[in-house]
Amino acid sequence: MQPVYKTDVFDIQSFRLRGLARLELVDLCSFCRGYSRPLDRWRCQFAQKRHRMPVTNQTASPRRQFPVDQIRSRFPALQQSGFIYFDNAAGAQIPRGVFDAVNHHLLNCNVQRGGRYEKSKQVDSSIAKARESVAILLNARDPSEVAFGMNATSFIRLMSLAIGQTLVRRNEIILTDMDHEANIATWLALAAAGARFSWWRMRDDGNLHVEDLKPLLSGRTRLVACSVTSNALGSIVDVASAARLAHEFGAELFLDCVHYGPHGPIDVRAWDCDYLVCSGYKVFSPHMGFLWGRLELLRKLPTFREDFIPDEPPGKIEAGTFVYENVAGMEAAVRYLESLGEEFLGEPRSASRRGNLLAAMHGIRDYEQTLSLEMLRVLRECGAEIYGHQQEQLLQQRVPTFLFNLKSMSPERVTERMADAGIGVRDGHMYAPRLIARLGLPFPGGAVRASLVHYNTLEEIRQFATVLHDLSQHG
Ligand SMILES: Cc1ncc(COP(=O)(O)O)c(C=O)c1O
Repeated sequence: MQPVYKTDVFDIQSFRLRGLARLELVDLCSFCRGYSRPLDRWRCQFAQKRHRMPVTNQTASPRRQFPVDQIRSRFPALQQSGFIYFDNAAGAQIPRGVFDAVNHHLLNCNVQRGGRYEKSKQVDSSIAKARESVAILLNARDPSEVAFGMNATSFIRLMSLAIGQTLVRRNEIILTDMDHEANIATWLALAAAGARFSWWRMRDDGNLHVEDLKPLLSGRTRLVACSVTSNALGSIVDVASAARLAHEFGAELFLDCVHYGPHGPIDVRAWDCDYLVCSGYKVFSPHMGFLWGRLELLRKLPTFREDFIPDEPPGKIEAGTFVYENVAGMEAAVRYLESLGEEFLGEPRSASRRGNLLAAMHGIRDYEQTLSLEMLRVLRECGAEIYGHQQEQLLQQRVPTFLFNLKSMSPERVTERMADAGIGVRDGHMYAPRLIARLGLPFPGGAVRASLVHYNTLEEIRQFATVLHDLSQHG
């Protein structure tokens, strides 16, 4: 069989979309195979000009098949039959390793850190390990850039209180009407500190466009605050371009990575952002949050701390005690993702922890696009009005989070009927009231959201489709 050559950026999904469902890469381009950053092996930046990557429709290598059954078997909560969880945007389930890490912490070292005795030292070392793991997850330059805390909202407020004290000539903050309110109201609270605001508006296609950001920027812009991905629509923002533009004007970029977290590789260096916040509980850990910031910027920020706390990150942004057992769980969540890369999705030669994470997250991205494709088909077939990205050619610009309504039916009716059938979806404003208004939907009624992650299956979508179809036919 003749190999098929793909000469643009490597993206298996685009083959699937063109109906070449079983095409798989059999050999990576030799330039990138030797290249030190695994990300570039997957998305060969040089392919267009210099390389041809042969692909074939021979049976795919087992390492490239997305092992959803094996993955599901690692999640105890998914073993309970009769429940389909499509509300992952509100928090994901945890794998066994995370559960074990939390238990282990509570059983063996449920004490305060900073003591001279063994158990306390164990807590110190568990926090240090978690910081290092999350730094690898984010591609941070230094683990001290990572702070742990309760959740994303409290971190954004902590940062807004700090940045609010630095507004002098640069007092303008750019916000979006697509974001979760946590990344809006926390900044609007700085009006009393003299902040002025402008709005980076979502376009009709359900995404933010960087061309619309440019006219809002000036020498007075202090900060642009935006999401990496909308928690309501699933659209992925081109944050690397936003960072480039913001920096041209001397402004900083604050990213809300909460919704994107479980769906793809995070790379604070490639994105060149200045601050980023995420909730661990969306990324397969228990309830906790973390913040990343450039070390030199965190050092300069005035934050609340008692006098005996050194004015150094991460301690200066971690007021008081946080939930150590959940931080241990976050460490295990990163290890879980790495294990996917190592065991199933990576190259046999893939060595580094970051390399395994990238393999896992790119594998997840590809698989989730298959889920998105099927969800779009089902929603369309049932006559649903879908908000946001819905073009099959643009699947790489979204994650499998779908906001929709059925004609002449309230969102509550849909979610209640789904609940009766054992399917967890959510209705309402998704904590994004400005987005709901922008879409012309009633508040707080809003719409229905079905949000999937990599442990969801096509079979689950089929069951969802059966209920939705019945609702659309018989009400
Ligand atoms: C995009 C986004 N930002 C912020 C938040 C708030 O996160 P947290 O509950 O960790 O404060 C959420 C929660 O759903 C979210 O989806």
